[in-house]
Amino acid sequence: MSGPLLQVDALTVHHGQLCAIDDVSFSIDEGEILAVIGANGAGKSTLLRTIAGLHHPTSGSVLLDGQVINALPPNRRVALGVSLVPEGRRLFSSMTLEENLQVGAYHANPGPFDIKRVYELFDWMPSRRKQSVWQLSGGEQQAVAIGRALVANPRVLLLDELSLGLAPIVIEKIYALVPDIIAQGVSILIVEQDVSQGVSAADRVHCLLEGRTSMTGTPAELTSEEIDRAYFGAGLSSTMPESGAAS
Ligand SMILES: Nc1ncnc2c1ncn2[C@@H]1O[C@H](COP(=O)(O)OP(=O)(O)O)[C@@H](O)[C@H]1O
Ligand SMILES: [Mg+2]
Repeated sequence: MSGPLLQVDALTVHHGQLCAIDDVSFSIDEGEILAVIGANGAGKSTLLRTIAGLHHPTSGSVLLDGQVINALPPNRRVALGVSLVPEGRRLFSSMTLEENLQVGAYHANPGPFDIKRVYELFDWMPSRRKQSVWQLSGGEQQAVAIGRALVANPRVLLLDELSLGLAPIVIEKIYALVPDIIAQGVSILIVEQDVSQGVSAADRVHCLLEGRTSMTGTPAELTSEEIDRAYFGAGLSSTMPESGAAS
């Protein structure tokens, strides 16, 4: 196959009057990791949820293998290999760990991942598979959310704020699994508010500022000043006067 695996083409998404994503384009090749970074409210979740089919674009397209998938509902996208690990995990908290994984397998795309493979990846899971999800720690729940997405055999894994609310040691453990996942031929779109986390894991970085692309590049090309400017806007950051932030 030639051409990118996933392509976002001139995508614009509104929530009512608010333009949350404004003419954003990028693509991801097979086996590639793209980090989308941006401040709170930049449009990152809207972007991922639109790729997963949970929001409809005002204009522009989402393409998988060169085919426009705009009209497909979320479950059809899962069956084609687009899986989202949503911000805040969204597990079924009264169900067991294993039942949550079974839900993920429901619309699965055929492929290498199944519950057994997820249990190899997260070796603490088998002994706790009968526990309700609410009994697990935040990091463990995040692992279940990733496992639930993996059993659907994604070709593109969309990870929204993977590290939010987790201890650094837990974040490190979760990111340590990324090479294993990529080795199965999966492409990953990582969304992070934590810039260093996103940038260090990625092959390429795409920064959003108030719904627009403010910067793209490889981690090696980008200086931290450029990243700061793209992340916070022209006037730079936290010291900006309140009224100066208006666009
Ligand atoms: N369901 C929604 N309804 C209305 N506005 C929304 C909704 N989801 C997000 N927004 C708004 O869209 C903008 C982008 O939000 P979001 O995509 O969640 O950004 P991020 O994930 O980068 O923090 C914000 O201004 C947010 O308030
Ligand atoms: Mg978000």
